[in-house]
Amino acid sequence: MNRIKSIRPALIVIVVSIFLITIPSPSLSQRSGDIEKRIDALLAQMTLEEKLGQLQQLDGESNGNFRPEHLQLARQGLLGSTLNVRGAQKTNQLQRIAVTESRLKIPLIFGFDVIHGYRTIFPIPLGEAASWDPAAVERSTSIAAAEARAAGVHWTFAPMVDIARDPRWGRIAEGAGEDPYLGSQMARARVRGFQGNDYSASDRIVACAKHWVAYGAAEGGRDYNTTEVSERTLREVYFPPFRATVNAGVGTFMSAFNDLDGVPASANRFTLTEVLRGEWKFDGFVVSDYTSVEELIKHGVAANGADAAREALNAGVDMEMVSRLYNKNARELMRQHQLTQQTIDEAVRRILRVKFRLGLFARPYTDEGLESKVIFNSANVAAAREIAGRSIVLLKNDRHTLPLDKNVRSIALIGPLADSQADMLGSWSGDGKPEDAITLLQGIKARVPQATVNYAQGCDIGCATADGFENALRAAKESDVAIIAVGESAAMSGEAASRSSLDLPGRQLDLVKAVEATGKPTVVVLMNGRPLTINWIAENSPAILETWFGGTQAGNAIADVLFGDVNPGGKLPVTFPRTIGQIPIYYNHKNTGRPPDAGNKYSSKYLDAPWTPLFPFGYGLSYTQFEITNLQLSSQHIPLAGKVTVRVDVRNTGKRAGDEVVQLYIRDTAASVTRPVKELKGFQRVTLQPGETKHLEFVLGAEQLGFWNRQMRFMVEPGEFKVMVGPNSEDLIETKFEVQNR
Ligand code: NOJ
Repeated sequence: MNRIKSIRPALIVIVVSIFLITIPSPSLSQRSGDIEKRIDALLAQMTLEEKLGQLQQLDGESNGNFRPEHLQLARQGLLGSTLNVRGAQKTNQLQRIAVTESRLKIPLIFGFDVIHGYRTIFPIPLGEAASWDPAAVERSTSIAAAEARAAGVHWTFAPMVDIARDPRWGRIAEGAGEDPYLGSQMARARVRGFQGNDYSASDRIVACAKHWVAYGAAEGGRDYNTTEVSERTLREVYFPPFRATVNAGVGTFMSAFNDLDGVPASANRFTLTEVLRGEWKFDGFVVSDYTSVEELIKHGVAANGADAAREALNAGVDMEMVSRLYNKNARELMRQHQLTQQTIDEAVRRILRVKFRLGLFARPYTDEGLESKVIFNSANVAAAREIAGRSIVLLKNDRHTLPLDKNVRSIALIGPLADSQADMLGSWSGDGKPEDAITLLQGIKARVPQATVNYAQGCDIGCATADGFENALRAAKESDVAIIAVGESAAMSGEAASRSSLDLPGRQLDLVKAVEATGKPTVVVLMNGRPLTINWIAENSPAILETWFGGTQAGNAIADVLFGDVNPGGKLPVTFPRTIGQIPIYYNHKNTGRPPDAGNKYSSKYLDAPWTPLFPFGYGLSYTQFEITNLQLSSQHIPLAGKVTVRVDVRNTGKRAGDEVVQLYIRDTAASVTRPVKELKGFQRVTLQPGETKHLEFVLGAEQLGFWNRQMRFMVEPGEFKVMVGPNSEDLIETKFEVQNR
């Protein structure tokens, strides 16, 4: 019964309270009462210059040193924070000046981009999202936090929770991919991992949700570019992971570089104040992105520095990263009544609140003995190996090419990424050291020491010539099996690393083709920070592993998977297109009035390419097989505020233990506004022994079934909902239920 829903919202819909407000425990609220009093006392003593000093963050040197000027400013109480200054001894030295020599002894907060590890580097965030394992992500993030705090870092500029539907955008590598639900789970896991329950602990740091907001919607996938996003799409696609960080207690936000519907994100009162503080009750502080306050001039919404400072501060950006326009202009802006004392005090209050919550007033220094115990210790390195293994996605495995026999006699290892330590770390590798990284060559040699490994690079990553191919082919011919590691350099994704092509760079594909032509069993190991267009490989290579950039332990983790010690269980967190012409291509698209239909020219498709992806969202294979059956609902009818329990069985029908990620999607078939054809609303990664069955349950309630209606209110509407369950976003079994208007 596919009933079109009435659009009389006042009568038939209910407002859904998804905005769960965490009620603080008495001791916590007591503590926050004390904190506010101490802030009041400080504010009462601070001069305007000292207040503006708290709003200023300055950059250190790339090697982690502070600059001479920082000492001077800290002494005068005119500096709130630095970024990139790190190391227990260096941070203590600068901190000592702030807390012993400045008039009010306010500690500094040291920020750093700890994105996927501090020194022990885990897979890039897109790779970790492919684990579909929030617990693993929380663990890796907590290790990153402990290492960073030991090195005197209090604050990370992470997680990056930008949804990305355009893989040309290099920063897709830093996020969790295209989906708001998966993105929200990962966002929450990262905030918990960084902050724990109390980020004053000596192994935690305060997190920063970035880049607020819609930075990932850059037109053409070109970094820093303009974004045009409707309020509905903001609320349904781009906001949810940020909302998840607020619910998880995130301490800070970063305002983005992009302009959003004509208003730059760093001057956007709607997003920074109305939504973030008004609707979501966020009480931490917002830092600008690097010089994004000053960039308001180039955006063309500020005529000069004073204008830019006024715009950003009044919109709700509390701390200015690197540019110094607040400090230069605030006094004059106040004199002209363009900025109030209250706005400045509020910004200072938010920053001091986080400094108090970090415990910096009580314990401003870092124990200098911690670094050598915590950083890159063997437990952290072992965790990096395990989590890298959980992030690997098996895209193809014809004729049981994988896993390889551990008794193999000879292996040809070919390709520009087979032995490149620096690239294993990916972009934003914190204080990671290339010399710590295990390459695939090292990993394979360690795993199968008896085998002869014939290594030939073939070409470098740019692969401009085929000069090295001959050696590579000789290696292949002399070996029982060939492994080819191809993809991008670490620098080809991340910030300012957009690409107009998603093909393998240069002649890398020719190298793959030449090796395949030798007729040897071949495994393609991909390393990359974004989806790639790999049609030929998908069609012709028998086995493909997507390994992203696996971090410090990449080579060992890939070897674990190649030889079957680890059965791959990762799934794609983002759609792989066939051609860049399909972008944006994402699974949770709308149906249109003319959905693609091969038999109908006048339907939504291309003349020269299929409309379907190469690999869909959620896709990934295993060395064993699974069957998902017995999809049942607790009820076929639920009231508007009701819940339905979805039950399903997953069985390992193969001969090895393995992991399956069971994914639950819904579709609201007819609503007052168009709804996606599928929306992920639950997933569980489970381990099953051969022959084992697990019964899984998912609960769907208002939070999952609601959406933003025509009046931009979050509602559940009555009518039919489809429920779909499967191992990826395409191979689904389905059933349905009805939400009734009572
Ligand atoms: C610019 C980047 O956009 C942001 O993500 C990063 O945190 C800052 N630089 C600081 O390094």
